[in-house]
Amino acid sequence: MESKILINPSILNADFNDLENEIDKVASTSDYLHLDIMDNIFVPNFTFDLDRAFEIINFSKLPVDAHLMIDNPDEIAPLYAENGCTSVTFHLEAATDVSKIIREIRANGAKVGLAIKPATPFADVERWIEEIDMLLIMTVEPGFGGQSFMHDQMLKVKQARTFIEKLIEVKPTLQIDGGVSLETIAEGAKAGANCFVAGSAVYKSDKPAEMVSNLRELARKNYPF
Ligand code: DX5
Ligand code: ZN
Repeated sequence: MESKILINPSILNADFNDLENEIDKVASTSDYLHLDIMDNIFVPNFTFDLDRAFEIINFSKLPVDAHLMIDNPDEIAPLYAENGCTSVTFHLEAATDVSKIIREIRANGAKVGLAIKPATPFADVERWIEEIDMLLIMTVEPGFGGQSFMHDQMLKVKQARTFIEKLIEVKPTLQIDGGVSLETIAEGAKAGANCFVAGSAVYKSDKPAEMVSNLRELARKNYPF
């Protein structure tokens, strides 16, 4: 069972021209690097092409948790697994054959994450919960950093946590992403999230590594499971 709290900084709002250094700043206190991949089709924003993403994965001192906000995860997700990501998360809304993507990510040696946008109900992913390592419930509309935390997603987080707690064997990690900060992380932890992506909260801070530790402490104190 995964009862440990994980804090994964997102470099979406870090300095893209100095990423190696930006990642180093948080490496001592973080669990994973959250790498947001956007294709300007699934979301109205673009981050990295495959070559640049693979470079980042290569020089990151932290294991990489890739979050694929892309239109064709069926083709692309296995490539991220093959190219060194520890965990690869794709969106249900973009997938054609979810079970096949899950199998292919795993076959290429990575953990499997499945993500849902704010409008997608938990019921839509329920049938895959026992096949995945992580469920990502978005707490903003995917596409941009620095948006406000959607408190109304906590109902879905609670629903997911209740479902996960009933599982006897492996319990997947429950991640939230978007608007996570010192003001909102306790609410997410109370609802049952145990993995937190934080972009602007970390990179707008003067002390990013310390911010990660402070976020972790708050989550730990408030996580009841
Ligand atoms: C949003 C991305 C997030 C984003 C989080 O589409 O998936 O990972 O970078 O940034 P903050 O923490 O600023 O909301
Ligand atoms: Zn993300």
